[in-house]
Amino acid sequence: MPDSTGFGPGVSEVSTNRLAAGVATRDRASIEQRTLRTDRWWLSPLLTFLALTAWLAYGLIRAATQKYYWVDEYHYLTPFASPCISDSCEPGSSHFGTPLPEMPIFIPIAFITFVVLAGFRGTCYYYRKAGYRSFFLAPAACAVPEPHKSYSGEAKFPLVLLNYHRYFFYGALVFGLINVYDAVLAFHGTDGGIGMGLGTVIIWINLVMLWAYTLSCHACRHIVGGRLRSFSQHPWRYRYWTWVSRLNAKHGTYAMISLFTVIFTDAYIMSVSAGWFDDPRFF
Ligand code: FES
Repeated sequence: MPDSTGFGPGVSEVSTNRLAAGVATRDRASIEQRTLRTDRWWLSPLLTFLALTAWLAYGLIRAATQKYYWVDEYHYLTPFASPCISDSCEPGSSHFGTPLPEMPIFIPIAFITFVVLAGFRGTCYYYRKAGYRSFFLAPAACAVPEPHKSYSGEAKFPLVLLNYHRYFFYGALVFGLINVYDAVLAFHGTDGGIGMGLGTVIIWINLVMLWAYTLSCHACRHIVGGRLRSFSQHPWRYRYWTWVSRLNAKHGTYAMISLFTVIFTDAYIMSVSAGWFDDPRFF
């Protein structure tokens, strides 16, 4: 019987925040079928699982190889290695100097970037949903039971760290500005003046997608328009909030597109840097 909380016995009988979950709980209807859904509900989590696994594998391999991240001729620097701030960096790739000494081979060239941006994506609300559905099947889709028998929320380590998303957002803003600087430097000609090639276009498309993803963040929406009693008293914040809200509606789309524009940009710069093909130049 439901108790006074209205959530059934699972809530009142458990003293901690660990709740009973799944179709086996006493207050659920007893249905033999695992799910009554007949559509291909498994397709979306499966594709998400494959896409995220491929991205993680690519990122780890590139972080481990530590090569072909800089094209000196055109000043192309991959976002995977930006900013490059140690004595291990290739000459010319350190746009902000080299305050750090030479790094051991097992530490990625841009390990600070890796920590902040992995933290930003890893704590993102969209990726949390995608991860819960595709990696942990918790649940895999609406009206599909999950395999776990209990639910402990995000109140304990390590999941409690997900609540620090706002701070990773601040870090991502800094790295976004660094990416803008890198992208401006990519207008570099072979004679030392201004130039532009296909790589410049790819870098800028990636930059736009990264900013679309960053500015559409739920934390960003709250920062610009949250904790206000009256929008009419804060017309500028209301304007920003309206703008971010429009972007926010497509946050999941930007999250996935920017994931692949980053990989494509890195793969392109790696190919040019390794000499596998030449960068077509416009001027
Ligand atoms: S919610 Fe996805 S980046 Fe903030």
